[in-house]
Amino acid sequence: MEDRTPLPEQLDAIERASVDELRAVQLDRLRRALRHAYDNVPHHRRAFAAADVHPDDCRELADLARFPFTGKADLRDSYPFGMFAVPRERIARLHASSGTTGRATVVGYTAADLRTWARLMARSIRAAGGRPGDRVHVAYGYGLFTGGLGAHYGAEELGCTVIPVSGGMTERQVILIRDFEPEVIMVTPSYLLAIVDEMERQGIDPAATSLRVGILGAEPWTEDMRGELERRLDLHAVDIYGLSEVMGPGVATECVETKDGLHLWEDHFYPEIIDPVSGAVLPDGAKGELVLTSLTREAMPVVRYRTRDLTRLLPGTARPMRRIEKITGRTDDMMIVRGVNVFPTQIEELILRAPQLSPHFQCVLGRQGRLDTLTVRVERRSGVDADAAEAAGVELAGLVKNTVGVSVTVEVTAPDGVERSMGKMRRVVDRRRDG
Ligand code: DLL
Repeated sequence: MEDRTPLPEQLDAIERASVDELRAVQLDRLRRALRHAYDNVPHHRRAFAAADVHPDDCRELADLARFPFTGKADLRDSYPFGMFAVPRERIARLHASSGTTGRATVVGYTAADLRTWARLMARSIRAAGGRPGDRVHVAYGYGLFTGGLGAHYGAEELGCTVIPVSGGMTERQVILIRDFEPEVIMVTPSYLLAIVDEMERQGIDPAATSLRVGILGAEPWTEDMRGELERRLDLHAVDIYGLSEVMGPGVATECVETKDGLHLWEDHFYPEIIDPVSGAVLPDGAKGELVLTSLTREAMPVVRYRTRDLTRLLPGTARPMRRIEKITGRTDDMMIVRGVNVFPTQIEELILRAPQLSPHFQCVLGRQGRLDTLTVRVERRSGVDADAAEAAGVELAGLVKNTVGVSVTVEVTAPDGVERSMGKMRRVVDRRRDG
């Protein structure tokens, strides 16, 4: 794989700062951010009052723990524009998160917020191994989803040639990669997998394409999936994280030279890890729910936003900013099967160890009498004999039982038997209420 490490002089000054310098910037920005939220958003003013805190109470970073959390429900209750801290006329763009249940969550950006976002995305693409002059194929969806436009403006900001393909029409994705020869692709890992399969179907050797770097996120994926994608495509598969409520993609990104977790751009977002049940702040290194406070957002500041994403905070390596460990799942994705907590990423890891099975899979929750059941639907790899794949399925069930501690039924389908995603893959299908 080509060395794609950026040169130190190409980094932003803060990416080369000391931890002490970074903490000083954070404290200054945090105090201003809390003041901005309190002065301009009635929800935050009320919530601060109810918790008996005032922005002036924040004298050091640890004081943030005294401030109230913001949850998804708070954003929904203020639908559509109640969380905005600037007059509507100053909002330069709106995005919204899909909201499979109930109302969507709306987010707004001022022109300055859009500049910050583009710069942070440019920083992220560079960290992941993208360079000015690279051709960047953007296969994240364009629209209210933040993936497409977030990637687009970041790649432009870095000085790349942007190819704004959006998601879908997989056959055409492959033709465009063949003809335009991008060095970088930005896409969800599950959709990249579908694109690789399509390359093979068209008789193209995925490892021989122009692609050198994949900047992959918007859904959980495992180290084993990284191995699979890097092996088949001969590229650097690098993780990128973000969420619309806090900005969009580019909140945290892995550095291509280390691939050891995602550096969280702490000069713009302050991270905490909490116990998801008690809400207590946990020390660095402990696993829990990620909570984020925006330090520079104008249009929609968020204070201690509960992401529901599970990870831990680790010290910086390639950059002074702390890292988050690859996200194993969301509290919402956790399946509880007969009292055992199971995440789809645990299943993914085990599937990828079986060469007969493909990583296209879904977890289907059902009910038998009063008991919950979990069926793992997984495809056999093309070219693999059906009996061999069946046997691998039986073995997989045993592995899940032994390592995760839950009994599952494994259903091995023909290649293409599992629904493909064009963006975020729906890993869990809940049929418990269907019958
Ligand atoms: O998914 C923003 C994004 C776009 C990130 C493109 C990366 C690339 P939402 O639709 O608001 O925003 O969904 C945010 O997706 O809370 C996580 O649960 C999940 N997620 C995002 N990135 C990752 C990742 C975009 N790298 C929600 N690993 C977040 C695991 C991720 N989960």
